[in-house]
Amino acid sequence: MSNSHGGHESSTELSPLSDPGLPPHVYRRADTEPAMAKKAERQVAILFGLSAISTIAFIASFVGIQKDVFIFIPLFGSTQAQQLALGFTLALSLFLIGAGAVHWAKTLMPDHEVIQERHELRSSDEDRQGVIEVFHEGAEAAGLGRRSLIKRTLLGSMGLVTLTPILFLRDMGPLPRKQLETTNWAAGRRLITDPGGIVLKAADLQVGAVAHVLPELPKGSEITLNDLVKDAVIVVRLRPEDLNLPADRKDWVHDGIIAFSKICSHMGCAVGLYEQQTHHLLCPCHQSTFDVETGAQVIFGPAARPLPQLAITVDSEGYLVAKQGFTEPVGPSFWERS
Ligand code: FES
Repeated sequence: MSNSHGGHESSTELSPLSDPGLPPHVYRRADTEPAMAKKAERQVAILFGLSAISTIAFIASFVGIQKDVFIFIPLFGSTQAQQLALGFTLALSLFLIGAGAVHWAKTLMPDHEVIQERHELRSSDEDRQGVIEVFHEGAEAAGLGRRSLIKRTLLGSMGLVTLTPILFLRDMGPLPRKQLETTNWAAGRRLITDPGGIVLKAADLQVGAVAHVLPELPKGSEITLNDLVKDAVIVVRLRPEDLNLPADRKDWVHDGIIAFSKICSHMGCAVGLYEQQTHHLLCPCHQSTFDVETGAQVIFGPAARPLPQLAITVDSEGYLVAKQGFTEPVGPSFWERS
C-alpha cells in the first residue's frame, strides 16, 4: 500500500498509456486553519445535539399527544397528530446523526488519497501490521480521542435514538399476567350454545352430538373478545361405557356428556372438528388429534398436553352446568409461561 499526498509529478510528457497518477491533493481550510477546524467541530456537535433534541421531542410526542388528536394536512387530509409527530421527529433525529457524521467526515477526517496496489489475497505480515497502524493513525487523526465535544454529542445522540424502540413496547398492550389462567367458568354456570345463546339441557344432546358453548353470564356482564376466546368449550356426548377417564375425573361428566376447552394446547387454534366414529377431536391448524374417550389425550400432532377438561353436571332443572372452573390454564402451553 502506498500513500500519495501530492500525486506523481513528472517533467516529461506522458504517453497516452502511461499512469497519470493522482491529481495534487487539495487541502481543506479545516486542514490548515485551526479556527476553521474548530468551527467545523462545533457544526458537527450542533447537528448531533439537534438530533438528541429531536429524539426527546419524539419521546414527548409519544407521551404527550393523545391518539385521538387529528390534524388536517392539505393533500393528505385528516392525519393522526401523534403518528405524524413520531414519524417526523424520529426521521429528523436519524437524519441529523447522518448529516453530522457526513459533515465530520468531509471537513475533519483525513481525506488523503490512498492507492492500494493489487497483490495476492493474503497480505504480507508487514502490510497487515501497516493496516493496523494506519487504522490507529486514522482514529487518532479523526480526533476520536481529542475531539471530546464531538465524541460526547455523538454518544448522546446515538444513545438516545437507540431508546426509541423501547417506547413502541407500550403499544403492544398490557402483559397478560394472570388473565390467561382465568376464565368465566365457575360452579353452577350454565352452558349456552355459541352461536345462538340457547341454554343447553342434557336431554338436548343425543349420543354422537357435538355443541359449541360458552358460560351463561349474569345480565349486563361485559364480555371481551378475550373472554369469548378463553371461555370457548366443546361438548360431546358419547355412550358412558365408551369413556375411559382417570379415576379422579369420572364424575366430571354427565351421562357420557363431556366438555373440553376448545383452544388447542399447541398454538391456540379452535379445535372444532369432531370425528364421530373415532371419537377424536381435531385441530385444523397442525392436525393435533385428541382422544375424547381418554380425556382429550394427544394421540397425534404437535400439541404437548391434553385439552383442559371442564367438569360438568346438571342442575335441578336438567340444564348442563359447570361443576367448577377450569383447574388448569386453557390455551397453548406458552401462555402459562407468559
Ligand atoms: S394449533 Fe392446534 S395443532 Fe397447532
